Amino acid sequence: MKGVILAGGTGTRLYPLTRLINKHLLPVGNYPMVCYGIERLRQAGITDILMVISKQSAGLYADFFGSGENFGVNLNFRVQESAGGIAEALQLAEGFITPGEKFVVLLGDNLFLDDLTPFVNKFNSQADSSARVLLKWVADPRRYGVAVFDPDDEEKIAYIEEKPKDPKSKYSVTGIYMYDDAVFEIIQGIHPSKRGELEITDVNNRYAQDGKLEYDVLQLWWGDAGTFESLKEAETQMRGVLP
Ligand code: G1P
Repeated sequence: MKGVILAGGTGTRLYPLTRLINKHLLPVGNYPMVCYGIERLRQAGITDILMVISKQSAGLYADFFGSGENFGVNLNFRVQESAGGIAEALQLAEGFITPGEKFVVLLGDNLFLDDLTPFVNKFNSQADSSARVLLKWVADPRRYGVAVFDPDDEEKIAYIEEKPKDPKSKYSVTGIYMYDDAVFEIIQGIHPSKRGELEITDVNNRYAQDGKLEYDVLQLWWGDAGTFESLKEAETQMRGVLP
């Protein structure tokens, strides 16, 4: 299985720091933020990784990671020219993923303590042409995608609401997704949202509609390090994860 880490974007909520350096290269502990995602993939046996990056700081990625050899992985890079959303960035992985292949996608600012191995194994034995998302219980899920469960079958996600004012569950959809190559055709069929982006939630909802979206729940700490507050928390939580 291959991995894709989405590390583009402008990181406006972390201005002015992110005017100097891309968000995903900001320090968390002794490493740039994105290293933790690479390590989680490597730990799950995924060593062929595509990083989708923005032009900003592109040279720094090459300087720091090179081929990825020092991190025990094989890294490839693609530059996302515009800020058209997560699904647009994901579209750039078409070609890296060979027909029939399943893969794991991480948002580079999502940091977490769970080992992905059991979830990846479940996805491997899951039916072809289906997807899997990882959820996390949070007290206030309003700034995330939120899972709405099927009232007749709690084991199933009926649909996902993106940043709802009045969430129907406490389970946020983390930026850890697993797809088959049908995802690229799905992305071609979705339209920009009100914020002008191709939303990953619309992609996931297509799988949910067809009854093809499975999920697991993360047991340990998870956060997205997109704000100063969450970046600070990540610093504490991720301490010691990498030497
Ligand atoms: C994105 C997704 C959202 C998900 C979140 C996790 O939000 O759209 O569904 O819960 O990542 O970090 P964004 O960071 O684009 O606001």
